[in-house]
Amino acid sequence: MKATVIIPAAGSGRRMGGSISKQYLELAGKPILAHTLTLFENHPLIEHIYLVVPAGDIAYCQEQIVDRYSFSKVARIVAGGSERQDSVSHGLDAVAQDGLDQPLRPILIHDGARPLFDCQHLSLLIEAVCDTGACTIGVPVKDTIKTVENSTITNSPERSRLWQVQTPQGFQYQLIRDAFDRAAADGFVATDDASLVERLGHPVKMLEGDYRNIKVTTPEDILIAVALLGGTP
Ligand code: CTP
Ligand code: MG
Repeated sequence: MKATVIIPAAGSGRRMGGSISKQYLELAGKPILAHTLTLFENHPLIEHIYLVVPAGDIAYCQEQIVDRYSFSKVARIVAGGSERQDSVSHGLDAVAQDGLDQPLRPILIHDGARPLFDCQHLSLLIEAVCDTGACTIGVPVKDTIKTVENSTITNSPERSRLWQVQTPQGFQYQLIRDAFDRAAADGFVATDDASLVERLGHPVKMLEGDYRNIKVTTPEDILIAVALLGGTP
């Protein structure tokens, strides 16, 4: 079954700093957000793209991203909210308003700031969503991870059990809708979508991706992304 993808790109890029929001910074001569959209535009299993951007940037994104690079699968550009979770929620609302809310329809959610996802993983991800309801891409952590409070280590979880979660994450429509509704009712906010589904007690499958799928977050990530793209800044 073909999937719909929601791309949250409505953040302000606080950790990146600078005057231009990070999703518009250019890598190899093309905005990060355009790189990300290209991945899904070109994939045969993706039917529609819902792009979520800051309310004041909708016209800019229509002209400078969607029209300029001729992204034909972008069904709508939607205004984001103050937290990532609000932005994804607005994307889900738009999907439902457009009649794409069949309970089993696979909905993928992918950060606008991850331009290096390898779409070879998409068919397995969508298959797992159809089979199990919920699946995310991730990689085993390389470093040893600690929890820290007041500059003191409080816990050292065993590394072999730890994974770094990435996007895309995929869910059957009704499951992710229920997860967002429950989180809203409980005032629960998380930094990824799988966390909301986990709270429902529904299992989320982890599919191994690769280490290239970085989230461009701080200035050194630009250097890494440029190197991985093999281009010039
Ligand atoms: N995002 C969003 N709406 C928000 C916050 C974030 O759509 N209110 C998006 C970002 O644009 C990004 C993705 O969610 O594509 C992952 O978020 P993150 O890397 O944290 O980006 P920012 O929130 O922009 O960065 P920062 O946290 O450093 O401000
Ligand atoms: Mg953020």
